[in-house]
Amino acid sequence: MAPREFDRGAAGASALDGADELAPFRTRFALPKDGKRTLSYLAGHSLGLMPRSALDAVAAELARWAAHGVEGHFDDEPHRGKRKRPSAGWLDYHERFAAPLAALTGARPDEVVAMNTLTVNLHLMLVSFFRPTPQRYKILIERDAFPSDRYAVQSQLRFHGLDPRDALLEVGPRLGSFELDRERLDALLASEGERIALVLLPGVQYLSGERLDIAGLTAAARRHGCAIGFDLAHAIGNVPLALHRDAPDFAVWCSYKYLNAGPGAVGGCFVHRDAAARADLPRFAGWWGHDVERRFLMETEFAPLRGAAGWQLSNPPILSLAPLAASLALFKEAGLARLRRKSEKLTGYLAHLLATELGERARLLTPADPKRRGAQIALQLAPAPRHGARFAERLRAAGVVADWREPNVLRLAPVPLYNRFRDVYDAVRALKRTLDA
Ligand SMILES: Cc1ncc(COP(=O)(O)O)c(C=O)c1O
Repeated sequence: MAPREFDRGAAGASALDGADELAPFRTRFALPKDGKRTLSYLAGHSLGLMPRSALDAVAAELARWAAHGVEGHFDDEPHRGKRKRPSAGWLDYHERFAAPLAALTGARPDEVVAMNTLTVNLHLMLVSFFRPTPQRYKILIERDAFPSDRYAVQSQLRFHGLDPRDALLEVGPRLGSFELDRERLDALLASEGERIALVLLPGVQYLSGERLDIAGLTAAARRHGCAIGFDLAHAIGNVPLALHRDAPDFAVWCSYKYLNAGPGAVGGCFVHRDAAARADLPRFAGWWGHDVERRFLMETEFAPLRGAAGWQLSNPPILSLAPLAASLALFKEAGLARLRRKSEKLTGYLAHLLATELGERARLLTPADPKRRGAQIALQLAPAPRHGARFAERLRAAGVVADWREPNVLRLAPVPLYNRFRDVYDAVRALKRTLDA
């Protein structure tokens, strides 16, 4: 049953904010404004807001560069003519992300690494985990997969001389719904499983906001001998994950959505310990994945680092990683369990207001069960606006930053680190006004 405050208008929203122990975190973010008005920013599923500490984090690395030049790679001790063991410098900068990323993904620290961007990581993972044979050569994805995932998979199939028209299998949503058709997926695995080399699915579906059952899907793929990986772009920093326990082979993500690391920020990758230990897996290699003790011996034979770090290619872009460090510190301080508790309530409030204020005019596409969704609610408007893009512009003029996808999907995501219940209240009021105008 909805808490009493859900039906008490603006006063109820303010009461919910007053009782929110995470409310002070909002002040740690730069909040976009329109003139003097602070916008209702419900687009954290697209680009998370900037932690104020990101400015200092980037400035610190620029200052280090200015002060030390190449010696910034090493620790802060004066350079004495021999290379020091890396400590605070850039040489081991990426290592500081292992523990916080492991905490967010439910992984072991050696199973995760911050590197590249999502699609690049997906290709690297497909190189290792998509090993087609004449008998088992197909890839199964969802019909509404994010286009970049689809392009990556299609191009990998072609790279192996395969025709996506034959080798790419798709499972769509259940009829009349936006939720993945699990029965159809199981049926496909039963009929085609022996020919499926790899399954690629999202942790949270980018359009509908449905949270998928990673454990159950992984077990289903395994029963048929298929490798399985997940795109966690909309899941990381949003919903709890248990990747080590659930044991997919790999997962990839970006850091600019719920991780608030900034546009085009460095993404990440999970490789399960069991998979990383396999000697038979090929990989595309680069010197940053090479044994750290021997990296500067300039050897000719590649000896990978243990775990996910062994998939690194290049020395990482420090200026792009610095905001991620700032943001992950906030996650540690707030705690994912507390964030998730608030998120469920915040999103529940949004769903409740949409239903009570807009009724039939908003058809929610996201599952109603809080366990089966993250922060995002996706909806279709009825009737569909004749000019969707113009409708989104009017909503923006009313002070709401949301995300419009043609032909008729509006995505709203209240983010527990910086959104208030009042933002949700104001956004739904603005949406109603815009529809009424
Ligand atoms: C679900 C999903 N997958 C993949 C991508 C592509 O990410 P990148 O541009 O970092 O490769 C995005 C980007 O928004 C996404 O939402």
